Amino acid sequence: MRAALYTGDAGTLAIEQLTPNPPGPRDVVVEIGASGVCHSDLSLMRGYVPLPPGMVLGHEAAGRVVEVGAKVSRVKKGDRVVASFVPSCGACWYCLREQSELCERENEITMQARGTRPGGGMYMCMTGLGTFADVMTVDEASVVKVETQLADAQLALISCGVTTGVGAALNTAKVKPGATVAVLGCGGVGQAVIQGARIAGASRIIAVDPQHLKRDVALTLGATDAVDPAKGDPVAQVQALTGGRGADYAFEVIGLPETMQTAYRLARRGGEVIIVGMARFEAQFQLPAFGIFFEQKTVKGCKYGSAQVRRDFPRFIELIETRRFDISSMVSRTLKLDAINEAFRAMEAGEVIRTVITS
Ligand code: APR
Ligand code: ZN
Ligand code: ZN
Repeated sequence: MRAALYTGDAGTLAIEQLTPNPPGPRDVVVEIGASGVCHSDLSLMRGYVPLPPGMVLGHEAAGRVVEVGAKVSRVKKGDRVVASFVPSCGACWYCLREQSELCERENEITMQARGTRPGGGMYMCMTGLGTFADVMTVDEASVVKVETQLADAQLALISCGVTTGVGAALNTAKVKPGATVAVLGCGGVGQAVIQGARIAGASRIIAVDPQHLKRDVALTLGATDAVDPAKGDPVAQVQALTGGRGADYAFEVIGLPETMQTAYRLARRGGEVIIVGMARFEAQFQLPAFGIFFEQKTVKGCKYGSAQVRRDFPRFIELIETRRFDISSMVSRTLKLDAINEAFRAMEAGEVIRTVITS
């Protein structure tokens, strides 16, 4: 199989010809149709999370099952599947309590060597997936069977961006109709938060991003206002739009301690701050000790949009099929696997909402 690997180089991924291990009894081999390029892939390359070199990156994909192990019961050869970057075992303490995003088997399932590299040595796969490849061998807990006519290039985004963003609005925050929402960071995930807030019936949605493309797209996807943080304190700008109070819900969708603190300030007294972005492993952010009491704000972590993937993937696909969620505006560009590094360049240059790698 061909795949794009993190080799310890923070600047580029390397395309290598790998030899996967034969699938185990609970493994599924998936031919990847399309894989989106998310900021978390770049963050891993940049050392946000300590990782051994020799890892296939990519965690957002749709494809088709080509082989299953003897004990696989959830999918069969020929099924269309969307990858779940947190496995959902369905049987652990968290999975049984509708918190499959915290599945207890995550580490055991995702931290496996999956085969060998050309020069010898094993390789592993990001989140147990490794979607920047033509094929992937994954545990059956890491895929969800779907039935839809959507093209792979659009369906792939269900796997991370759509589910994380829409889930943040509908599951984590449970945005109320008529609410005021501020979204700090309007990349692929932030745009999905905006659409989720629109679907929830928010009456004011304020997009905050320094890149003009992101602000322009946000205004077409449901944002009612767009704020450029380069044009003055974003907190003051959001307060000016919300009667001086701030937003009922403030989402941080970047992954930096500074912007997490800004998000805290964007929320009104009694409001909610939802941390969607993935920061560096060792990073900390400060909260005002008096203020958290006096202003009674709630800070919520949001992993994978608090999604129950077997319930939510079909639900979010239906939102796309019924045109309540606009997916085409989110897929800016498609590229082949060989051009993977170009996708990261375009992401950092602010030229795209999402690049999708197609087979
Ligand atoms: N204020 C507002 N927006 C900012 C700021 C800032 N100070 N700094 C960066 N941004 C914006 C960028 O301009 C960009 O539009 O944040 C956006 C990030 O978008 P992407 O790079 O497309 O990232 P995305 O894939 O959406 O992921 C966002 O969610 O899943 C996590 O790891 C991921 O932490 C990352 C976050
Ligand atoms: Zn992602
Ligand atoms: Zn579980």
